[in-house]
Amino acid sequence: MSHAVHSLGDCHNIMDFRTLARRRLPYPVFHYIDGGGDDERTLARNTAAFDDIDLVPNVLAGVGTIDTSTTLMGRETSLPLILSPTALQRIFHWQGERAVARVAERHNLWFGISSLSSVSIEEIGANYAGPKMLQYYYHKDRGLNAALVERARAAKFDAIALTVDTIVSGNRERCKRSGFTTPPRLSPSSFLSYATRPAWALNFLFRERFSLPNLETHVAEGSRRAISIQDYFNGMLDPDMDWTAVEKLRDDWGGTFCLKGVMSVADARRAADIGCDAIMVSNHGGRQLDGSRAPFDQLEEIVDAVGDRIEVICDGGVRRGTHVLKALATGAAAASGGRLYLYALAAAGEAGVERAIAILRQEIERGMRLMGVRSVAELNRDMLRRR
Ligand code: GLV
Repeated sequence: MSHAVHSLGDCHNIMDFRTLARRRLPYPVFHYIDGGGDDERTLARNTAAFDDIDLVPNVLAGVGTIDTSTTLMGRETSLPLILSPTALQRIFHWQGERAVARVAERHNLWFGISSLSSVSIEEIGANYAGPKMLQYYYHKDRGLNAALVERARAAKFDAIALTVDTIVSGNRERCKRSGFTTPPRLSPSSFLSYATRPAWALNFLFRERFSLPNLETHVAEGSRRAISIQDYFNGMLDPDMDWTAVEKLRDDWGGTFCLKGVMSVADARRAADIGCDAIMVSNHGGRQLDGSRAPFDQLEEIVDAVGDRIEVICDGGVRRGTHVLKALATGAAAASGGRLYLYALAAAGEAGVERAIAILRQEIERGMRLMGVRSVAELNRDMLRRR
């Protein structure tokens, strides 16, 4: 059933926030969030994969009181759900990372900021007590790499998540067509695409200057010099990154360490062997290698290989509480996603993210009750059947 979505009160599920975000964002910004690589097959599959597995509920389990909490990477959280790190959030809504951090803190959820965050590591560290990770891009600039580790340490981040699936940029054709850059270039030629959304444009122009404060100390690109994300990845990140580099980073950091973007069993084993605490099974939201398998499709074999040694997080495609339950029943320690809160951020700032997380919380709680499950640990593979 198609239905009109004009305001926050019309949003009853995650895809409703997408509809609202589309109404409120200039199209280059919307398509940067929404788009994927090449033909977007993997982007679509990330969510569709959850439909190939059905839930088999048990009844009469006495589910008046249930417990959705769990422990992830050493910290207790209220839901088995992580708000994945995503870049450039103040371009999507002027409240940006601050809004997401506030909601995550209120709900006691893990969240991450990107290396390309638009609020600094220091500000997030000083103001938000909840569990938080720094998503780490391994740059060619070794001074920048070292600075990111030191800043995360000084700001008492709980974990670093090194992204390993952006060795070069995916082919984001929507961004090529729209000319999206960071910061957005409000040039005569792009003016029209931004002017159709005056509320966004006024906020962008008249609030504090946009920058990428974690990077700006070392590179002008992204803050003072407009650049596409594709050119940023291809120009700035180091395609020679390898396991030796990962081990050195893990040692330099010395704290909780996660690899984000592991897809093969062989790599998952190696991550466990070198002492990673967690892996995010992820294809970067379908934005990198199109034709890559979905995290949920790949979850079972990875859990079977390393689930007893390392926390396995299923990142991508999550739009419903039942998707979280399917990932957990397969053996994931948590599910994780970016767009699931980004559409809401873009649609309505902090109030939007709060509503999105409240909806997902209700979906998880309702799903657990209907499954006859009182705690997250009770979810198991007996409750799943492949079609
Ligand atoms: C950033 O990480 C992106 O995928 O655009």
